[in-house]
Amino acid sequence: MKPLFFCGSSNRHLGDEISSLLNIHPGRMNLGQFPDGESFVEILEPVRGKQVFILQSIAMNPNFYLMELLVIIDALKRASAKEIITVIPYLGYCRQDRKDKPGLPISAKLVADLISTAGATRVITFDLHAGQLEGFFSIPVDHLHCQNLLAKEAQSLLGENSIVVAPDIGSVKIAEKMASCLGSELAIIEKQRQSAFEVKASLIGHVDGKDVLIVDDICSTGGTLVAAANLCKAQGARKVIAAVSHGIFTADAIEKIEGSELSSIMSTNTVPSLNRFSNFYKLKTVSIASLIVEGIENCLWH
Ligand code: R5P
Repeated sequence: MKPLFFCGSSNRHLGDEISSLLNIHPGRMNLGQFPDGESFVEILEPVRGKQVFILQSIAMNPNFYLMELLVIIDALKRASAKEIITVIPYLGYCRQDRKDKPGLPISAKLVADLISTAGATRVITFDLHAGQLEGFFSIPVDHLHCQNLLAKEAQSLLGENSIVVAPDIGSVKIAEKMASCLGSELAIIEKQRQSAFEVKASLIGHVDGKDVLIVDDICSTGGTLVAAANLCKAQGARKVIAAVSHGIFTADAIEKIEGSELSSIMSTNTVPSLNRFSNFYKLKTVSIASLIVEGIENCLWH
């Protein structure tokens, strides 16, 4: 049976790619806003008893897209959809995932609760900021990864003598995945805070004379990648490139990366480009549409 596939307004480009690969038209719904900015949703397809997928990235305008997603899920639940599977290529609010200082929220848990309380029955998502976020949901989560896809692109840019570098301790897991896809060694950058204003970074491993692939889950301001690239170059790396799952590229990230030691950067399209990348010459975007289609096909009723 063909599933119903709805696309929220955050990442329509990716939605179009997915519906053409699935060979189905996106489900019809009205998405809009009330004059005061509240999300307005009206489902225009019969969904009673059906399996329904919704695509929405919580990025670039995360508050709006999160709320829109919740309202779509609510509309589908009230229209008696039997299974509501949310495909969230980039799960926003994932960075506050533990209370390591008084006064902090655990936003990642709050967002997971909101999505399941709204009525989602399953989540398909990619490269969560920390693996344990999966456990914040009370519904099943298919946690998929982009490293295989990015490794295929990276291969053509790396010479024989290459190494993967994790730019901080938090990115070691994802960098390990990439190193195993490429069959290469792994080096790790460790940052030690000397004072409120001074961070000392040291490299565990050897990059001298090697092609370096820096791997992280998110690139936001570009600060982490650029600092890592500078350190690798200073330690004798021949060439430095980067691969990230989620290219948010806020503030002056594009200018920073363009002017940096990084010779190229690969990112997937979990975060929409929204025409922001016309001057981003070093960026190569790799579509995850085929991985999402696989994820959807694995959930289909037979
Ligand atoms: C941090 O824990 C993440 O894995 C990324 O390293 C971080 O979000 C990158 O941020 P930025 O690009 O602003 O340095």
